[in-house]
Amino acid sequence: MTSLSALSRLASVAALLIATQAAAETPLERGRYLMNSVVACGNCHTPRGPGGMPIAGRELAGGTEIVEDGLFVARASNLTPDPETGIGRWTDAEIARAIREGVRPDGRVLGPPMPFPFYRDIADEDVAAIIAYLRQLPPVRNAVARSEYKFPLPPAWGPPLAVPVRAPARSDTLRHGAYLAGPLGHCLECHTPMNKDGSRDMSAAGAGGQPFAGPWGVSVARNLTPHESGLGRWTDAEIVRAIRTGTSRDGSALKPPMAFDYYARIDEADMSAIVAFLRTLPPKPLGGK
Ligand code: HEC
Ligand code: HEC
Repeated sequence: MTSLSALSRLASVAALLIATQAAAETPLERGRYLMNSVVACGNCHTPRGPGGMPIAGRELAGGTEIVEDGLFVARASNLTPDPETGIGRWTDAEIARAIREGVRPDGRVLGPPMPFPFYRDIADEDVAAIIAYLRQLPPVRNAVARSEYKFPLPPAWGPPLAVPVRAPARSDTLRHGAYLAGPLGHCLECHTPMNKDGSRDMSAAGAGGQPFAGPWGVSVARNLTPHESGLGRWTDAEIVRAIRTGTSRDGSALKPPMAFDYYARIDEADMSAIVAFLRTLPPKPLGGK
């Protein structure tokens, strides 16, 4: 006979197991999840074939050109452990510094479009998880030419980072959602209009309007704020479908460069936190004005 109290005992055992599992997640497991879902470094660093699919055997091997007319031809670096053409000889601290501060071991400042102002706030444990994932990649020999910037890069992306950088508690849904949509997923980078100096106008966070040109033509970042020109009338399920499958509310297919194929693997808890956070953005018209 199954009594209610036996059921609730079972439920609490299950809850305990889940809690222990989360705590027992290794840095590599965490890195595997992040890199194949919300963080999606591969969206720039893994070359894609003509059909848009990542090329097999070349995960994070770099070489993709990202062109911003008149401003730069950026070439995504080889992040595999190849000692000559990748980052195999870099220490963990050097890799962490490149990701969060945009400085290479030789002191050279890295350029856009890698979103350094957002990556700066990736927590220590998540940077460590990302590095654990990079370390186990098969090394790929692929020498990538230097990026060309037609404007001077800033001397630095900020003062040297004061560690430790901590992530908000996952139980704090809104702050966790902000961490996912900001530092980890840089959703707010693409979806926030730019100031004249190239920084983001965070008073219009999520309002969209920025154009992205590529082999797909031009796509314009949509308005993610609760405004009527944004996600105001959307259900949660419609928002989740757009993020995971690249299908807009009216059923039309969304274009790159958003990493839909990675975002399909964002887990339920993280996805709910992202949606809850987007609902709290100040409503603004498309482009913020
Ligand atoms: C929007 C595209 C984009 C995303 C997303 C991106 N990167 Fe990059 N990354 C670049 C480009 C372009 C460069 C080269 C910049 C340059 O040449 O100055 C680069 C350079 C680097 C370098 C320097 C390597 C070297 O040899 O100099 C590292 C390390 C790196 N990225 C790691 C990452 C990691 C880890 C992530 C995910 C957390 C990531 N990147 C996400 C575009 C991107
Ligand atoms: C590299 C830039 C980029 C990143 C990163 C990005 N997006 Fe997007 N997103 C776009 C663009 C561009 C579009 C519009 C595509 C089109 O019009 O075909 C879009 C469309 C959307 C839409 C569809 C809205 C509509 O009206 O159809 C949603 C929802 C969305 N993004 C949410 C997110 C979330 C959440 C994240 C982070 C997990 C994110 N985006 C990360 C560029 C980006």
